[in-house]
Amino acid sequence: MKKDIEEKEDVIKFVNTFYKKVETDPIIGYIFTDIAKVNWQYHLPKMYDFWESILFGKALFKGNPMEVHFKLNQKQSLGLEEFNRWKELFFETIDELFEGELATEVKKKAGSIADLMHFKIHSSAHTQIKVKPIE
Ligand code: HEM
Repeated sequence: MKKDIEEKEDVIKFVNTFYKKVETDPIIGYIFTDIAKVNWQYHLPKMYDFWESILFGKALFKGNPMEVHFKLNQKQSLGLEEFNRWKELFFETIDELFEGELATEVKKKAGSIADLMHFKIHSSAHTQIKVKPIE
């Protein structure tokens, strides 16, 4: 039986494993390597903080993920195919390494953040319903 996610070392492990898959992925890899030209040394520790904040309630992460992905979407459209692939790789990574309450929790959280991101990106600005201000 696999162990559950318990501490920072576990977060480091799944983040590193996930982005190794992402980097060479035929569907989304190029967005990270060619479009955003991600500096992994800088990105990975940010992601450790992000997931530690979510899983263990520590206020470590300082960033603005929505803004980052909005901007990225202007360079390269992030649609359903890309988000589905992201989720697939994330769930696959967690299932390979862990099982238990937090493992289930992190997949749920990742899934709902991904869905929300996708929704917000595609419902912004021009597609937003304009409501007249109340006089
Ligand atoms: C198709 C899906 C996605 C793509 C292609 C993508 C790509 C990227 C890229 C290129 C960056 C910038 C890295 C850098 O330049 O340092 C980034 C940052 C980030 N991503 Fe994603 N991402 C995706 C989905 C997600 C999802 C679903 C989450 C959360 C569950 C997420 C969380 C983050 C966070 C926390 C950052 C750092 C933001 C910051 O610096 O403030 N991403 N992503």
